[in-house]
Amino acid sequence: MTKRSVLFVCLGNICRSPTGEGVLQHLVAASPWAGAIKVDSAGTIGYHHGRPADSRMQRAAARRGIELTSRARQVQAADLERFDLVLAMDRENLADLQRLHPAPTAKVCLLSEFLDDRWPNDVPDPYYGGEDGFEYVLDMIQAACPAILAALVSDLPHDG
Ligand code: 4NP
Repeated sequence: MTKRSVLFVCLGNICRSPTGEGVLQHLVAASPWAGAIKVDSAGTIGYHHGRPADSRMQRAAARRGIELTSRARQVQAADLERFDLVLAMDRENLADLQRLHPAPTAKVCLLSEFLDDRWPNDVPDPYYGGEDGFEYVLDMIQAACPAILAALVSDLPHDG
């Protein structure tokens, strides 16, 4: 039974948020809470609906042993009531989520709230850039995910 849930949100749901989903899912699978946490991702636009993650993002993640399996979908207002935690990749994504649902039951915040201030507020959009942008997305998300997992399970028993 799912006891906690988290949704990663970016613009297109083909680069940054699928990476959040894949990295956290990878961490959850190797943790005592496997099966107790639902991890998903969505985009603020529906333009890429049904598509797998960008092949450049998939390759960069695969080099770190992480498989990206998501199919793009647009975030819905109901998601902000269905999930416990909704993590925006940048401030524009966050503003779009706040417009979509002004009174969410989910905690809605930036992913960077789970990072120290050596990191920027926004996970930079890698779509129009080079390889290093995809690596940086992974660096930032891999740095944040242990704290995200800790926050999700802070009041769950270890057997999930
Ligand atoms: P994402 O990256 O928001 O990290 O999935 C983008 C993907 C597609 C576009 C922009 C950003 N686009 O303009 O189509």
